[in-house]
Amino acid sequence: MMVRNLLFVSIALVIYSCNGEKGNKVEFTQLTEELGEQLKVLVQAIPDDKVPRSYPNKDGDYWMVGIRDWTCGFPAGSFWSMYEMTGDEYWKETALENTLKLDGVQYRTTTHDLGFMVFCSYGNAYRLTGNEDYKDVIIQASESLLTRFNPTIGCIRSWDHNRDKWDYPVIVDNMMNLEMLFWTSEVTGNPKYRDVAISHADVTLENHFRDDWSSYHVVSYDTITGEPVVKQTHQGLNHESAWGRGQAWGFYGYTICYRETGDKKYLDAAENIGDFILKNLPEDMVSYWDFNDPAIPNTNRDASAAAIMASAYYELSTFSEKGKTYFDAANKITESLTSPNYSANDGSNGGFLLKHSVGHKPNNSEVDVAINYADYYYLEALKRQQKLLK
Ligand code: GLY
Repeated sequence: MMVRNLLFVSIALVIYSCNGEKGNKVEFTQLTEELGEQLKVLVQAIPDDKVPRSYPNKDGDYWMVGIRDWTCGFPAGSFWSMYEMTGDEYWKETALENTLKLDGVQYRTTTHDLGFMVFCSYGNAYRLTGNEDYKDVIIQASESLLTRFNPTIGCIRSWDHNRDKWDYPVIVDNMMNLEMLFWTSEVTGNPKYRDVAISHADVTLENHFRDDWSSYHVVSYDTITGEPVVKQTHQGLNHESAWGRGQAWGFYGYTICYRETGDKKYLDAAENIGDFILKNLPEDMVSYWDFNDPAIPNTNRDASAAAIMASAYYELSTFSEKGKTYFDAANKITESLTSPNYSANDGSNGGFLLKHSVGHKPNNSEVDVAINYADYYYLEALKRQQKLLK
């Protein structure tokens, strides 16, 4: 049995039998060492001017992207998590190198993904080092993001592509960019960023969710009336289906909104979305790529959706009266992801941690591969779990 497999078994035992803080700490240290060894394979493969997005692509190699790609902040964020979990200077240096190459992102106004790109990289860099230069980068990124806000609609515009299909597309993923805006209002004392975040969250809550709390992926608005005109999917199975990662983004997003505002309507939303997800997860709790794929169980899982869900369930468990249900759900997902079914443990998988994620299945792009954001949210879930076990 591989060391990692043994660790998986013992971690499961630690979680479920609560064998004490000391034992848990030893197991966690062993796990982070294993994760570090795996991720070092990825680090060796990173060129100075590129970011590894996923593995393997259709040529069998990495998909390396530049700093315009929405996923460019995740590897740096994962390396910051490794530094946070281990205190090892190697990870600080690696994280810094992979953060500083993203310097130009802060000025971009042609993307809504600035939260992913800048807050996962520079946000963690500032949080863990206190270097004021990084704070300025995040404030500038928030300023750039505000240029995409339309007050008639009350939302930040997501995409600039497909203008023939959508006048003003807002995707549920965009909920993830609000955390950076809340943070920027807090550090600058200027409420304008937070006001935009709240407006975006409120309008999305009104228009993106169906009666059962599943979510549309794309809602496009009329820029004259501000009303929603089209509700569709882009990466899901069909317009009325529940695309797995989309459900995860909305769930995580409203959990953040509750943390940042204390407004009960966001807690209700997070619980309702979380409960909808729970009803639709398979036995090992690792989400299918789309909850409505008729091929289930013979279709793809999406480990990235599962990792985002696990992290959000941990956070929601700290706020909700149903905390135990959510904490147990998060543990079960994390346990499955840590198992050999989903984790690579031998330097394979391009050095990424998790296998079996899905990027854009309808385009046959990144189907059943390792993707950088799966690892980022998996590590975040592990950090949250460790904090809560303490
Ligand atoms: N934000 C794009 C995705 O989740 O694929």
